Amino acid sequence: MTDQKKSDQTTTSEKPWGGRFSEPTDAFVERFTASVGFDQRLYHHDITGSIAHATMLAKVGVLTDDERDQIIDGLKGVKEDIEAGRFEWSVSLEDVHMNIEARLTDRIGITGKKLHTGRSRNDQVATDIRLYLRDEIDVIAEELKRLQSGLLDLAEREADTIMPGFTHLQTAQPVTFGHHLLAWYEMLVRDADRLQDCRKRVNVMPLGAAALAGTTYPIDRNLTAQLLGFERASENSLDSVSDRDFAIEFCSFAALLMTHMSRFSEELVLWTSAQFDFIDLPDRFCTGSSIMPQKKNPDVPELVRGKTGRVNGHLISLLTLMKSQPLAYNKDNQEDKEPLFDTVDTIKGCLKAYADMIPAIRAKADNMRVAAKRGFSTATDLADYLVKKGVPFRDAHEIVGKSVAFGVAESRDLSEMTLAELQQFSDVIADDVFDVLTLEGSVQARDHLGGTAPAQVRAAVARARAALK
Ligand code: ARG
Repeated sequence: MTDQKKSDQTTTSEKPWGGRFSEPTDAFVERFTASVGFDQRLYHHDITGSIAHATMLAKVGVLTDDERDQIIDGLKGVKEDIEAGRFEWSVSLEDVHMNIEARLTDRIGITGKKLHTGRSRNDQVATDIRLYLRDEIDVIAEELKRLQSGLLDLAEREADTIMPGFTHLQTAQPVTFGHHLLAWYEMLVRDADRLQDCRKRVNVMPLGAAALAGTTYPIDRNLTAQLLGFERASENSLDSVSDRDFAIEFCSFAALLMTHMSRFSEELVLWTSAQFDFIDLPDRFCTGSSIMPQKKNPDVPELVRGKTGRVNGHLISLLTLMKSQPLAYNKDNQEDKEPLFDTVDTIKGCLKAYADMIPAIRAKADNMRVAAKRGFSTATDLADYLVKKGVPFRDAHEIVGKSVAFGVAESRDLSEMTLAELQQFSDVIADDVFDVLTLEGSVQARDHLGGTAPAQVRAAVARARAALK
């Protein structure tokens, strides 16, 4: 036998599953099928899961207490090695699970080989992802809350600031800036709800399903679930190792969150433009141009809007990954990780940027006010005024339409016309009309639950703060 052959044979027998194979894995296939390059980030949760598994095995008598202690000490040592950068990940050991197990056996000898009793990588990886995602959900929930709380502070500060409200991006009616911000806030309330709902289904333990059918050892799944803080153990072994619907659900939450943040971004980009000039973003959230010295670009909102594309894409990746898989585990599922990890990283980044940036937004109230006036935004108020004086709404609509046409021709807002000018269009118009034609009068009149009046904005902020606690 040549030296080359000998070393190939050694490689094959080093694989934890190498026993039934008669030739080493093709070098390219080894790299092609390996996941260690990206699943090593699960090391912490993999070790946590293994410690709980070994604890349970000792409790039911499959391991001795001494074996359990050796395994747990060994796993803690492996974790220290990884965190100190002393761990060399090996592609020939395929994934995070086999890398850690092999290192455990290097450290503690033959007892290390007993850890995998009564489990499979199939239930192990399903457990690891759930533990990982549960932790990330808690981090994301906190960051989301920080953004929500920043929005409430800004909404309160801007409760009296008047801006044009839009439909079709055409000036419609005046609203308060605080009210507009609270619309964003409501979207995030639903996102936060969806996240917590998703967490319930993430927090179920697959471990014990083993490869697909369960195991012949007298395992205590409830104990392992309790040790790992899971709400309960899963019901069906085939389902436990195969479905990734919990990850899809998370990505669907993330896609909606990003869709909302992308809408906020679009408005921020518009509002910082010279054409709107409604707000100022602090310089630290913007960048310049290498050629045009005057430029201050809203890069953060633009990037958040852009990153929505990849997050939406990951949702479609996972849905497509799952759609034709027969029960139970298939290697396809190894492809669940990169989209999931990137979704988590992306939304954490976007949330952080927004939670830092939103409270620093400065409203340019004068510009908002001028824009609200320019668009005849109190036209509906004039119509409502006429209706209250007994004019049918359709006739009132016609009268106001004519008044607006006059204003367009004269370049004057309704509130800037004289009483005599307004009376040309209807003789029921009296001096009190000016109370409703002002922007303040208009927003103050919408004084009901969910309306734009400053008092309603303040009340909504107070309710939201109490609910956010
Ligand atoms: N690396 C694999 C994954 O991410 C772990 C499970 C492998 N199981 C198997 N039977 N090949 O899905």
